[in-house]
Amino acid sequence: MVIADSFGRIPRKLRVSVTDRCNLRCEFCMPNSPVWLPPDEILTYEEILRVISTCAKMGVQKIRLSGGEPLIRRDLDRLVRMLKDVPGISFIGMTTNGLLLPEKAAALKEAGLDGVTISLHSLDPNRYRDITGGGRIENVLAGIEAAKENGFRVLKINSVIQRGFNDDEILDLASLAFNNDLTVRFIEFMPFDGQKYWSMERVVSGDEVIEKIRTRYKILPLPREPSSTARVYKFVHGMGEVGIITSITEPFCSDCDRIRLAANGKILTCLFDRSSYDLMPLLRGTATDEELSDFISYAVSKKAPGVRTLLQHCNSLEHVRAMHTIGG
Ligand code: 5AD
Ligand code: SF4
Repeated sequence: MVIADSFGRIPRKLRVSVTDRCNLRCEFCMPNSPVWLPPDEILTYEEILRVISTCAKMGVQKIRLSGGEPLIRRDLDRLVRMLKDVPGISFIGMTTNGLLLPEKAAALKEAGLDGVTISLHSLDPNRYRDITGGGRIENVLAGIEAAKENGFRVLKINSVIQRGFNDDEILDLASLAFNNDLTVRFIEFMPFDGQKYWSMERVVSGDEVIEKIRTRYKILPLPREPSSTARVYKFVHGMGEVGIITSITEPFCSDCDRIRLAANGKILTCLFDRSSYDLMPLLRGTATDEELSDFISYAVSKKAPGVRTLLQHCNSLEHVRAMHTIGG
């Protein structure tokens, strides 16, 4: 039976963090000394499959695999293959830093992965290395090529923009979209950085990004897809697209259709809400599928109306989680 939260929103998309670990250390994401989940507290693929099958019966249609970095989890293609057979699931995507795509893209495509979103926050090799704590940009660019060669249905680039750091690259990143027929999405910097240096002054608004892009390119807004996080624009004289994800200046909570499953089996109903609903005791105990389903319904019924209300109820952002534990 399809379920809705108490505001009538039906969860159609489930983001699944398959690991909290990562082969990079992006400063806007990882704490200085991350504490990893012990391996036996991470859901197995069989447990993930059980949760997804249950959610699919309740109306979830799209899955996004994330991390940490999902590609460092061994044999991710095995999970994709398992999920492909779940009735009701029509799309499986993945958000990755792209480093391991050259070696893994073909197997993932064959397993049935539909879409890949690759994070790339600078086109300057030194800056990319600095922001990611040692990443080599050649590897990401090779990852983008590998994703293209393998013909993924949806291929997007995510760029987190921070004022005074990489906002001078907005036009170059837009050109990457224009010249390569890609979708580049500019994400407003959110207060989930492990090192807690976020401030409003660091946020470059989506509107500002679009204004900047208009100094070089003629772009037209596309109709907003219902429940989409991004507002997307097409180039009038080219193939690619640019998008803005305005999680801070214009959050899209009123028709949010996302819920999250953390690597340790906790259901999270909103990025900004500290509450979580632990499925692990049910999955590793004797709970029936019906009990699992009832518990997920209960979690969904508790989904907050949105970030604005949550922030009104607390005086600081101290309570929010680090991004690598939730997977964006
Ligand atoms: N603000 C905005 N986006 C972030 N991401 C990681 N940390 C932050 C943050 N503090 C991005 C990742 C990835 C997506 C899942 O979220 O780079 O593209
Ligand atoms: Fe890793 Fe992504 Fe976090 Fe960077 S943003 S440290 S690539 S999980």
